[in-house]
Amino acid sequence: MLAAMGAWDLRSNHNVLRNYPILGHLRYMLEFVRPELRQYFFESETSGRPFNREQRDLINARADGGSDTSPFGTRRDMEGAGFDFVQHSMAPKDVDSRHARLVIGGPQCRVPYNSSRLNISAMSFGALSGNAVAAMNKGAKLGNFAQDTGEGAISPYHREHGGDIIWEIASAYFGCRYQDGSFDPDEFKKKACAEQVKMIEIKISQGAKPGHGGLLPGSKVNQEIADTREIPVGEDCLSPASHPEFDTPIGLLQFMARLRELCGGKPVGFKLCLGHRAEFMGVCKAILETGIQPDFITVDGAEGGTGAAPAEFSDFIGTYINEALPFVHNCLVGIGKREEIVVIASGKVALGFDMAEKIALGADMCNSARAFMFSVGCIQAQRCHTNTCPTGVTTQDPARAKSLEVNVKAVRVRNFHDATVKSLLDIVGTLGLDSPDRLGPEHIFHRPEHGPARTYADIHPKVEVGDFLRDAIPEDYLQDWQQASAQYF
Ligand SMILES: Cc1cc2nc3c(=O)[nH]c(=O)nc-3n(C[C@H](O)[C@H](O)[C@H](O)COP(=O)(O)O)c2cc1C
Ligand code: SF4
Repeated sequence: MLAAMGAWDLRSNHNVLRNYPILGHLRYMLEFVRPELRQYFFESETSGRPFNREQRDLINARADGGSDTSPFGTRRDMEGAGFDFVQHSMAPKDVDSRHARLVIGGPQCRVPYNSSRLNISAMSFGALSGNAVAAMNKGAKLGNFAQDTGEGAISPYHREHGGDIIWEIASAYFGCRYQDGSFDPDEFKKKACAEQVKMIEIKISQGAKPGHGGLLPGSKVNQEIADTREIPVGEDCLSPASHPEFDTPIGLLQFMARLRELCGGKPVGFKLCLGHRAEFMGVCKAILETGIQPDFITVDGAEGGTGAAPAEFSDFIGTYINEALPFVHNCLVGIGKREEIVVIASGKVALGFDMAEKIALGADMCNSARAFMFSVGCIQAQRCHTNTCPTGVTTQDPARAKSLEVNVKAVRVRNFHDATVKSLLDIVGTLGLDSPDRLGPEHIFHRPEHGPARTYADIHPKVEVGDFLRDAIPEDYLQDWQQASAQYF
């Protein structure tokens, strides 16, 4: 057998096997187990990515409902460049638990949604297994928060437990499309008016693959997914990069108004990863020109996750959340609309501090995707796109998916949510504030490579309410504002 294998290796396409027949296989075996070896034996508490062991352990401890305290002191490099922190007050406060929620819905919304400050970010049935979707939805029901469906439509697993749903509509209009892929308003209306659907989110882009349509490998497109999305079985499922229904900022707002009308006046907003700043300002100008405004804007950081994306899109495109938020916030303040539009942040939100930071930098609340994946059992093996997820979270293989026990994981989802929001309120109180709404960029310190830490208020321009209407545009924004147009992206 060895001789046959050696002879086979000599004709292999792999240089290593041709030079080192038989022995060369050792290299490929080690390569195969490298991620596990790294994770289990060599990774430090704070070096792993996207989420390090410290974060994963804390999420798991909170999901288990156990103690989330740590002994002996911090392991973080507090003197290192990029370290962010807050300063406490000598007069800490107890923050009332009603501040764990807020109301989403501007003047054009007829059915505002009383939302938790932390919801489950968009993840489709297809990217996630049915059991993972069901566990998250049941967790959302137990904890009175919401699950975003992701672009893959509302599946039976979203409906089974009755947890609140934010229905995401992306460029392929899954769940509300004609066969040619165009938007079907009747189908949309039928589903969007369901009591369980609380808000509608138009997806323009996501941080892990901005400017690229959704991608679900054909190996994952089984009958159930095909039925949910209204697409053929077994074929790669690609969404177009842009929406067929609009191609200008005004078009986006008109589509939004149409959806709001069709769904009976529920909050409608859009999700984007910030790209060209002038384009976002074009949407701001369109708001002023048309009088149509979103009820919320979800800002996703370039560091966001995905089920599958081209590596270059994940690694090099889009704006990091901590840079995007101050810009989006300032633009909305500048046009005088910030009070009426809720800003939702996503991008590696896993801890109470992450929530406090995002809210201070310009958000009102947060979404989290991967931290909720950890709470249903993900171990960061990063094989989500292969249909071989070892924990049943992102696979459509029924044998693997059934290892995920819906009832057990639902409790973990609820526990993680509750403990994280509690941690946010604790931090806010420690700062001497009585509500997360009081957080601002002046509360978050950032340590640069050289010199003392500065607050984000010192780093980003300050904009007063209505400044853009008075042509008082900060120098840093002026060129983009002049380029921005409501008529084109
Ligand atoms: C498995 C998976 C599937 C996702 N699917 C979608 C999707 O359908 N639509 C979307 O807008 N974002 C999708 N995202 C992005 C998340 O909603 C979120 O914006 C991003 O991961 C940042 O949050 P996180 O850092 O907490 O994971 C997905 C992310 C993951 C990990
Ligand atoms: S365990 Fe691995 S493959 Fe499964 S969801 Fe987590 S990262 Fe993806």
